[in-house]
Amino acid sequence: TTVLIANGPNLSRLGTREPEKYGTTTLDELAALCMQWGSELGLEAVVRQSDDEATMVGWMHEAVDAGWSVVLNPAAFTHYSYALRDACALVSSAGLALVEVHLTNPHAREEFRQTSVISGVATGTIAGFGTDSYRLGLEAVAARVHER
Ligand code: DQA
Repeated sequence: TTVLIANGPNLSRLGTREPEKYGTTTLDELAALCMQWGSELGLEAVVRQSDDEATMVGWMHEAVDAGWSVVLNPAAFTHYSYALRDACALVSSAGLALVEVHLTNPHAREEFRQTSVISGVATGTIAGFGTDSYRLGLEAVAARVHER
């Protein structure tokens, strides 16, 4: 089973981007971890990152067509992208798991981060555990895939 791990804007800068908040693991290192965690769970993790909303919308369409579950860190799009939200709704209404993940806990941060337009169409949300949020997201996908 393939899982798309989709990362939004500025996450290419992990490792050096506000490390006190986001940690020192780079996106490449996170991708390697996700592939390892995935394989331990019987999942093939495909890891991508884009700063572009249209590209991410296209990935959600691709996930629907391919039958992929998604672990999504929408980054700043979390807070305002209705286009990405609507694309995520396509994934969940196709019966595929869509797990929203965040490295930080947005509810403990600035007010504008306390709204997620994605959460309402996600299967569930995992936030605040650093890179472990992705591991937990993969576990949630694996549990659902294996119960089907
Ligand atoms: C983030 C939280 C968002 O508010 C922020 O815009 C990000 C990263 C996180 O993983 O903690 O870019 O999604």
